[in-house]
Amino acid sequence: MLGVIGGSGLYKLPGLKVIEEKEIDTPFGKPSSPLIIGEVKGKKIVFLARHGKKHSYPPHLVPYRANLWALREAGVNRVLGIFAVGGINKLLLPGDFVIIHDFMDFTKMRKSTFYEGIYSPDVEGEDKVAKLLNEKKVVHIDVSSPYCPEMRSILSEVLKEKGLRFHEKGVYACTEGPRFETPSEIKMLDRLGADVVGMTGYPEVVLARELTMCYAGLCVVANPAAGIAGYRLTSDEVISLMKEKEDQVRDILISFIEKLPEERGCECEKVLEGAEV
Ligand code: HPA
Repeated sequence: MLGVIGGSGLYKLPGLKVIEEKEIDTPFGKPSSPLIIGEVKGKKIVFLARHGKKHSYPPHLVPYRANLWALREAGVNRVLGIFAVGGINKLLLPGDFVIIHDFMDFTKMRKSTFYEGIYSPDVEGEDKVAKLLNEKKVVHIDVSSPYCPEMRSILSEVLKEKGLRFHEKGVYACTEGPRFETPSEIKMLDRLGADVVGMTGYPEVVLARELTMCYAGLCVVANPAAGIAGYRLTSDEVISLMKEKEDQVRDILISFIEKLPEERGCECEKVLEGAEV
């Protein structure tokens, strides 16, 4: 089943026929919002608001592990994260979509793994993930291809068909926030090869992967990054751009869900093979 994590400006899923709202607790705490279980085009999906229904979790305090664990408990094996981002690459314009293919992590204080060796909690379940946690294993996952190639290629197909401006590759730099970056930080990220910047893309992607889920990130460029536009950045600008894009995001999601095959045709599921020490 697909799980969708909505970012700033996306607190519910337009077009979703809601079946049930589920409050879940996990060994990693409470997720940022109840899980909204619903149906799109006859397929069951789950939606979760990353910052909470009322945007009460700042990027550095989002319960990323609880969110991913709650989705796992709901039966999710693929996750699509939606992000508002600042554009670093000069080719990116506000309103463009970017299907990221790699990330750089500049966060400072986030729990970014489920596998904490002797400190791992006991969990329920019989699968490999539960086994690794219950046996208190140390695990190093490969992130040579952090975003699911199958999901990325379906996203590309959908965006192409809809005639929307988009970029089929992009490097996402994740900063700690909650402040925006300085112009010098953006210049540095540009020189390092980042195309977009956001505050919530990490560790969501690696946590999903650690649970053997497929993960893709669909970014909407909400503003030129600091120092590029030459004006002051505001949350108002980000949220209002995301509101403007809401209908397009809904149409993309509906077509994406329609096209997503039932069986996974990628290698994401195998990430834990040979990963434990
Ligand atoms: N920087 C970091 N996060 C963001 C930005 C930005 O410019 N725009 C939207 N999210």
